[in-house]
Amino acid sequence: MSESQTNPAVRTVTSTQSEMTEIILPNDTNTLGSLLGGRLMHFIDLTAAMAAYRLSRANVVTAAMDHIDFIRPVRLGDLLTLRSSVNRAFNTSMEVGVKVWAENTRTGEVAHVASAYLVFVAVDERGRLQKVPQVQPETPDEVRRYEGALRRREHREAENSLRKQAKQISAALQEAASR
Ligand SMILES: CC(C)(COP(=O)(O)OP(=O)(O)OC[C@H]1O[C@@H](n2cnc3c(N)ncnc32)[C@H](O)[C@@H]1OP(=O)(O)O)[C@@H](O)C(=O)NCCC(=O)NCCS
Repeated sequence: MSESQTNPAVRTVTSTQSEMTEIILPNDTNTLGSLLGGRLMHFIDLTAAMAAYRLSRANVVTAAMDHIDFIRPVRLGDLLTLRSSVNRAFNTSMEVGVKVWAENTRTGEVAHVASAYLVFVAVDERGRLQKVPQVQPETPDEVRRYEGALRRREHREAENSLRKQAKQISAALQEAASR
């Protein structure tokens, strides 16, 4: 029996998997008939939140969305499918991966159009941080994503601390210049 079956504080990646399909309508597109980047980010945020809710069974807020590559345009009338799952849970935060495909409804061609990693944090009704259950990876792909999530977290923490230092230096320079 796996740990996720015996320990309720541990859940499988599969139990967090979520999917959303949208048809791309004129309101979603720019003047060239391509899906707006901001609209795609909105769909990504929603699909990722579904996986975070399924893991935490709590309120979740988006803490970060990593770099996104828009690999190819999504056209008016395409069917957009987004799939998400929690890669790894930490203390109160969890990393969710989202992969997006577009299907041309006339030819049936399906193409990978974007991928993203997001971090969600579980909070209660007053915004206080909540501990989340751990994730037990089961397949080789899930183990790869689980290990990658720790590296990405370390990378985010290093970037955040560099940004904080840059802010402090800039504030100190401004103060010195104003004297
Ligand atoms: C996300 C938020 C709850 C974190 O609160 P905080 O007081 O800064 O919390 P802490 O610094 O103690 O960190 C708590 C957790 O969040 C993670 N976290 C905080 N900021 C983060 C960031 N920028 N990127 C990734 N993770 C982050 C920490 O790593 C920590 O994770 P852990 O408990 O698993 O180790 C808070 O910054 C917030 O409410 N932000 C606004 C969220 C929002 O409005 N999102 C858009 C709408 S949903």
